[in-house]
Amino acid sequence: MTTIPLNDLQRMYAAYADRLDQAALDVLRSGWWLNGPRNKEFCEAFAGYLGVSHFVGLANGTDALEIVLRVLLERGRRAGDRVSVAPEVVTVANAGGYTSTACYLTGCMPVYADIEQESQLLSIPSAVAALSDRTAAVVATHLYGGLIDVPALRQAMNDAGYTHVPILEDCAQAHGLKGCGAQAGAFGDISTFSFYPTKNLGALGDGGGVATNDAELAASVRRLQQYGWGDKYRIVAAGGRNSRLDELQAAFLSVFLPDLDAANARRLAILNAYGKAAPAGLHVVRSPNGAVAHLAVVLTDHREPLRDHLKAHGVATDIHYPVLDCDQPGWADRPKRIGPSGLEVSRLSVNKILTLPCFPTMTEEEVARVCHALSTFALR
Ligand SMILES: Cc1ncc(COP(=O)(O)O)c(C=O)c1O
Repeated sequence: MTTIPLNDLQRMYAAYADRLDQAALDVLRSGWWLNGPRNKEFCEAFAGYLGVSHFVGLANGTDALEIVLRVLLERGRRAGDRVSVAPEVVTVANAGGYTSTACYLTGCMPVYADIEQESQLLSIPSAVAALSDRTAAVVATHLYGGLIDVPALRQAMNDAGYTHVPILEDCAQAHGLKGCGAQAGAFGDISTFSFYPTKNLGALGDGGGVATNDAELAASVRRLQQYGWGDKYRIVAAGGRNSRLDELQAAFLSVFLPDLDAANARRLAILNAYGKAAPAGLHVVRSPNGAVAHLAVVLTDHREPLRDHLKAHGVATDIHYPVLDCDQPGWADRPKRIGPSGLEVSRLSVNKILTLPCFPTMTEEEVARVCHALSTFALR
């Protein structure tokens, strides 16, 4: 019996081999590998797809989070906001550590809000409760391809008197996710993407970027991604670095982009099939606001027996993510704060989550095998 993998990037390459090979050859022969026409073409196309005015390609999604936090901090400082000394960023603890990494790189303190059990997404009341005079931003991570109701979050923040606090959408797991009247990445003040190969829109290496409708924010991101340059060799902003989406990756992304909606529909069909097959007591995580099934995650009180059962049926599993950010040993001595509503749901969930295979090139036979394995799991 062959094991069904969690993902299979060889299949993805095989499905697009001719076009990817041609795209690579074209770039190599052009002699233009950075800051060239493919980057411009992809960024314009992706901005158009998202319905935003600006998309800036960067080297990866973590750089995008870091650069955006720097830009927001700088804007807050210029506006004379209250957030100068010890800025805080409200986020969740269950989303893999990327936002916390960016916080620590930019001198911000992560403040952890709790999540909703059903969707495993940021709880809006918990996020609002965690706001303070020092809040520089709220990061709304559309985790597992589930949509946070960003307009509702904005309204709740405004009602609590925090109209000046920007919302940063982390869309690394949410390319093409639609709902609540728009799509992920187009609601908030600014949003970040990763094009890590396994993402819904993935490159053949690292990639990322920032989307916004705000021309000034886009210009600030462009400055910081290239050493702080205003124009060539003239540094006009501190805090710059080098983070570029290269021409090869941009060309590959342009090959995949037209099929993103179809690939998302396939992922969602797989998630729905698992939802139907799962016995009572095994909850398939899904946002009520919209989903693109980046990961198929179930909540179970019997994780180890379920893992063993799936393994015996040739189904690979993983855990996204096994350690809450606030409990990461490497950050034990780093500043952090747990929001006033606590982390009860996050803590309960971290021991219950289990990720199942879910990728667009899964065969019907493989989906049926996972469904059969799920449906034959006897809950104790
Ligand atoms: C939610 C989330 N944010 C940020 C990132 C960081 O992206 P990257 O790996 O491209 O740095 C990832 C993925 O890896 C992610 O899943």
